[in-house]
Amino acid sequence: EKGTYPHYMLKEIDEQPLVMRKIIQNYQDGEGALEIDSDIVAAMKEADRIYIIAAGTSYHAGLVGKQFIEKLAKIPVEVHISSEFGYNMPLLSEKPLFVFISQSGETADSRQVLVQVKEMGYKALTITNVAGSTLSREADYTLLLHAGPEIAVASTKAYTAQLAVLAILAEVTARGIGHEVDFDLVQELGIVATAMEALCDDKEEFESIAREYLTVTRNAFFIGRGIDFYVGLEGALKLKEISYIQAEGFAGGELKHGTIALIEEGTPVIALATQGFVNLSIRGNVKEVVARGANPCIISMSGLETDEDRFVIPEVHSLLTPLISVIPMQLISYYAALHRDCDVDKPRNLAKSVTVE
Ligand code: F6R
Repeated sequence: EKGTYPHYMLKEIDEQPLVMRKIIQNYQDGEGALEIDSDIVAAMKEADRIYIIAAGTSYHAGLVGKQFIEKLAKIPVEVHISSEFGYNMPLLSEKPLFVFISQSGETADSRQVLVQVKEMGYKALTITNVAGSTLSREADYTLLLHAGPEIAVASTKAYTAQLAVLAILAEVTARGIGHEVDFDLVQELGIVATAMEALCDDKEEFESIAREYLTVTRNAFFIGRGIDFYVGLEGALKLKEISYIQAEGFAGGELKHGTIALIEEGTPVIALATQGFVNLSIRGNVKEVVARGANPCIISMSGLETDEDRFVIPEVHSLLTPLISVIPMQLISYYAALHRDCDVDKPRNLAKSVTVE
């Protein structure tokens, strides 16, 4: 039930800090250390390459998950769109492990790939919000998101839950292999939950950003580098699906290779700057678009901010920034849709789970 909330989407955005805390609890052992079923850790350790298969928002979570697994567990990861993988299978490694990410566990494009890879004799893990869903039943292993039912068509809390579970999977696997993890993930996820709360308390700010940048525009661009780029892809998808504004996410350095031609006087460019090592280069990209008339909205992280920034998110571990930088994306999209009188929870042409190919 959405209770006093005007929309499920807003309720689900607000539930994210609580979901974080639930996930930490559900994946802790008696001593408080993070724990994952030993068969899953063994399958991860055996794999020479991990293939993440997903669609839409879950695919965007997979892109961030690749960073978690490669940085912590040091296993190479490929991320594939399920509808592409099914028809254009890449050359596989000798010992692949397939990881399906799906909120619903029912997405037909992903199911089709699961059937294919099971026929080829490979092992599969499904990360899903729905226990007993098709993708969970047909895979060898399941990790649950513990996000509670997600009703709004636009996925929000499932995305951050997917990221948290992927981070836990990466950390536990890393320790299982014997790689040192030089931070305490339980503590860092706790800091993330608190930062999420602060962002959810700042709704007027995001309403005013949406009003200022997105009330009349035809299009909008999201730029970032590294994991900020992946969050930009998700920000663009959120904005497109509920506000019908044409939006695209770009790697900051890629804009000048073509897309910059679309920048006109007033075009909104939402830039994410949460990564210290690319802070200067993303700000350089902002200057390039501003020189062509763009209306920049820089969202940076505390410690990296400058006077030109529109919003500064609280500081969290540099690997975990997508868990919180996505919240401004979700809330800005939500308010943009409201300001444009769109049906937030049930956007046109979309269904909650896509069970046809
Ligand atoms: C976007 C959205 C979709 C889904 C996609 C995959 O907000 O909800 O892009 O992420 O259809 O769905 P699942 O995760 O259920 O496989």
